[in-house]
Amino acid sequence: MTKLFREKLSRVLSSEELAKVYTSFDIVGDIAIIKTQNEDNLIEQAVATQIMITHKGVKTVLIQTSPILGDFRVRQLKLLAGENKTLTKYRESGCVFMVDVEKCYFSPRLLGERSRIASLVKPGETIVNMFAGVGCFSVIIAKTVVDCLVFSIDVNPVAAQYMKENIRLNRVFGKVIPLLGDSKEIIKVNLQGKADRVLMPLPEKALEYLPYALCALKKHGGWIHYYDFQHAVGDEDPVEKTKLKVAEKLSSLGAGYVWGGSRIVRSTGPNWYQTVLDIQVISLPNKF
Ligand SMILES: C[S@@+](CC[C@H](N)C(=O)[O-])C[C@H]1O[C@@H](n2cnc3c(N)ncnc32)[C@H](O)[C@@H]1O
Repeated sequence: MTKLFREKLSRVLSSEELAKVYTSFDIVGDIAIIKTQNEDNLIEQAVATQIMITHKGVKTVLIQTSPILGDFRVRQLKLLAGENKTLTKYRESGCVFMVDVEKCYFSPRLLGERSRIASLVKPGETIVNMFAGVGCFSVIIAKTVVDCLVFSIDVNPVAAQYMKENIRLNRVFGKVIPLLGDSKEIIKVNLQGKADRVLMPLPEKALEYLPYALCALKKHGGWIHYYDFQHAVGDEDPVEKTKLKVAEKLSSLGAGYVWGGSRIVRSTGPNWYQTVLDIQVISLPNKF
């Protein structure tokens, strides 16, 4: 929440009510999504109204009523103000995306990370995006790098449908190949030994699916971008904690590797962080 927004809110809420308001919201296209720390519907309504006054482009304000859940990583949302809809058009890095924010996972907070990964891809590369959602990483890479091929996998049929739509909207047909299904199965059957680079933007499954990321890489190896959620307190370094866990797994699998750039992507709660490790795999296990 910006200082200005907080100031405006303080004109309609008491300081006690203001303290209860959850301090952040996301804007995806013309939809704002807020969280609240209290049960008071009047406060939620006041925040929603203020968002619509302050952000002229916002047509709908939704409130998240469940955590992000299940294999599809989706959440329940309730209408607070404006048009009753969950589908919106979102713009990022010169690309446009249709996103249903209730039926598909989506976070605008990965904007910097998507553009960082796109900047690492070299012309001629083949990429496997194991958990692609509506295709943001895949489309942005394909738009940024003239000559590349991205196999873009998601298990959620609705996300895969919007991925196809986003490929069409951004004219990257033939450069991004949309694939519906479990990335583990798709890699085993169709994509063994094909990739220069593998993206694993699903922290909850990354460790379990690491053998399949290795399996997708070309014989001489390549890059894996590994995402994690990590708890860290005091002097603990969330990136180093992620490295320890992943190093153990890679060693047990018999892969040779060196660390590339690794960093905290964002903070996700008190003492919780999303981390990313760029791993250069230099030798693959003898068998998977
Ligand atoms: C955190 S989201 C990825 C978001 C996306 N990379 C982006 O930038 O918007 C994780 C995605 O993985 C998908 N998923 C979960 N399990 C999967 C699996 N076994 N194979 C393929 N996709 C899977 C979910 O449906 C969800 O869309």
